[in-house]
Amino acid sequence: MTLEMRPRLTAGPGSVVVRILAVSVRANAPRVWQDPASGHPLPTPCVPGFASLGRVAEVGPDATVLESGQLVFFDPHIVGRDSTDAVYISGFMEGFNAESRRLSRCEWRDSTLAEFARLPLENCHPLNEQRLLGDIKDGGLGYSLDDLTHLFSMLIPFGGLADIDVKAGDTAVIAPATGRYGSAAVHVALAMGARVIAIGRNATVLKQLNDIDPGRLSTVQMTGDVIRDTEVLRATAGGQGVSAFWDMSPPGAATSTHFTSVLNVLNRGARISLMGSVSPGVSFDYMQIMVRALAIKGTWMSTKEQTRRLLGMVETGVLPLGARAKMGAIKKFNLQDWGEALATAAAEIEPGEVVVMP
Ligand SMILES: NC(=O)c1ccc[n+]([C@@H]2O[C@H](COP(=O)([O-])OP(=O)(O)OC[C@H]3O[C@@H](n4cnc5c(N)ncnc54)[C@H](OP(=O)(O)O)[C@@H]3O)[C@@H](O)[C@H]2O)c1
Repeated sequence: MTLEMRPRLTAGPGSVVVRILAVSVRANAPRVWQDPASGHPLPTPCVPGFASLGRVAEVGPDATVLESGQLVFFDPHIVGRDSTDAVYISGFMEGFNAESRRLSRCEWRDSTLAEFARLPLENCHPLNEQRLLGDIKDGGLGYSLDDLTHLFSMLIPFGGLADIDVKAGDTAVIAPATGRYGSAAVHVALAMGARVIAIGRNATVLKQLNDIDPGRLSTVQMTGDVIRDTEVLRATAGGQGVSAFWDMSPPGAATSTHFTSVLNVLNRGARISLMGSVSPGVSFDYMQIMVRALAIKGTWMSTKEQTRRLLGMVETGVLPLGARAKMGAIKKFNLQDWGEALATAAAEIEPGEVVVMP
């Protein structure tokens, strides 16, 4: 990766040029962006990037709502306008078919780890700046731009949580809850009304999570002993049992026993969301799924409607952000310090955000 100067971008039909204010750097970004064998194919050379916040600099002739100066949230899940089979996770991963490669290798190749980016109009969601950044005494929520960067880790987990319809009355297990996506999923599931059981191996982070909502959140440390973990989960769930299970395990967790321990405590008819990257596959008990009528749903990213709904949850105040919601620290880097940002994102797997602010 190198930093270079390029000519100023211009917007055309269907696009918008955005001055990037903050771009998310994920735990696996160094591998994805620097290792051609990462399993995340990219249309190299390209400008990498991912979920971002920015201000509209120029709109194309067909923009109907977006206008110059507007604060926007960029959802990197780009879907073909003429085929939903074409998918490009902007600056992060091209899809696996010819349609996706046409999408990623041509018009939308370059992403947001830059001062300016030309992006699809429909992926730039306008934010209610007055409400989000406005003073509390004027009816605003009093957030800073830093607070809004917590949306980066919530966006994708929300896709899975929404797909299995997590809601008030549910008891939802979130696994693993100790990383950036997992801890964000805990906050989102609580805001969706569920009672949450956050599980993971890291006792220190689980202890920090405990403070988020002592009323509706419990944490359980996974030990790898299926009988013991099942018993503790069952006791924690109590009479209500567990009606939803959200999982976003990384490849390293392929042999983790938490899948079995959680399956053991699911209620009849429970819904399961699988969002991780466990490429060798996970062995779920066929008979348990059949007899207990479990529903399993896989989710890649989130839909436009889900993204809009998540932003609405923040704008209405249902989903609080930042220190007041006991969210993790924001680690910020200049564009010139992208190398340090990547190293930090990979080394420090914990709640909070790692962002480059170009
Ligand atoms: N479906 C989608 O749309 C989508 C989108 C983005 C990413 N993903 C995938 O989701 C996965 C997770 O991403 P992430 O950024 O959250 O990863 P991450 O930040 O590396 O988080 C890893 C989490 O997994 C836990 N973990 C690590 N090794 C484990 C093991 N051997 N057994 C049990 N738990 C383990 C960690 O907890 P402790 O080490 O504390 O136990 C931590 O909570 C990635 O592999 C990514 O490819 C999916």
